[in-house]
Amino acid sequence: PVIDTLAGRHQQEQALARQLGIAHCTLVPGDSSLPSGTLTGLAQATKRVLADQLPIGASTIAVMGGHTLAAVAAGLTPALSTQRQLLFVPARGGIGEAPEIQANAVSAQMAQRTNGQFRALYVPEQLNTATYKSLFAEPAIHDVLQLIAHSNVVIHGIGEASAMAKRRNMAPDVVADLNAAHAVGEAFGYFFDAAGHVVRKFPPIGLDIADLAAKPLVIAVAGGSEKGAAIQAYMHLAPAQTWLITDQGAADFVLKK
Ligand code: G3H
Repeated sequence: PVIDTLAGRHQQEQALARQLGIAHCTLVPGDSSLPSGTLTGLAQATKRVLADQLPIGASTIAVMGGHTLAAVAAGLTPALSTQRQLLFVPARGGIGEAPEIQANAVSAQMAQRTNGQFRALYVPEQLNTATYKSLFAEPAIHDVLQLIAHSNVVIHGIGEASAMAKRRNMAPDVVADLNAAHAVGEAFGYFFDAAGHVVRKFPPIGLDIADLAAKPLVIAVAGGSEKGAAIQAYMHLAPAQTWLITDQGAADFVLKK
């Protein structure tokens, strides 16, 4: 029966990847949206995928923020650095999150847990274009942006649109725009509808979804029935090599079970 279960899960992973038009899915039991749900299964699965897929030698890993990525960070161990030199950088600048789940904090935590290195990107939010331009020229910021641009691995979350708008304290008129445009999901500061059309984007710094195509390893970690629509929608924008780590709650939505 155990083998049957594993074979069944493997089949579902393949069906999910096919349905979403991406390279790989890793499926864990449970529904992390439920009050009794946890992010531990997703975190452990991500640790295993990283242990298998990270190249030997040096890697620069760009990571996004969120509770899911913070759980992934908490589950990493120094074993990941065996035969590897890991440098973690935030994939994007601050996007209005609580400090402990910002990309800076998550990349610092990943570095600490794996005995790796990290570089922070300190850029305030809501600046005008001229201020951004002069900030980009600052060596401390320019250097980190270069590291982000040349990263070979990306690990990111996917958010449900209204939850993200609320968490980031977006202005009522912006929330109204997102609702009117039927935004269902958010990733990399992009809000998009069910067909993957981008509705809104903030802010103009760090890794862009378009940059992902050139990255050899792109891992998306997102689960829970409440994120099903967001995950499915994001995969219209995702590069084909994306490796999704998700749970049964989200998978059932996509596979319409
Ligand atoms: O952009 C996606 C969000 O950061 C996901 O956040 O893991 O807390 O749901 P979450």
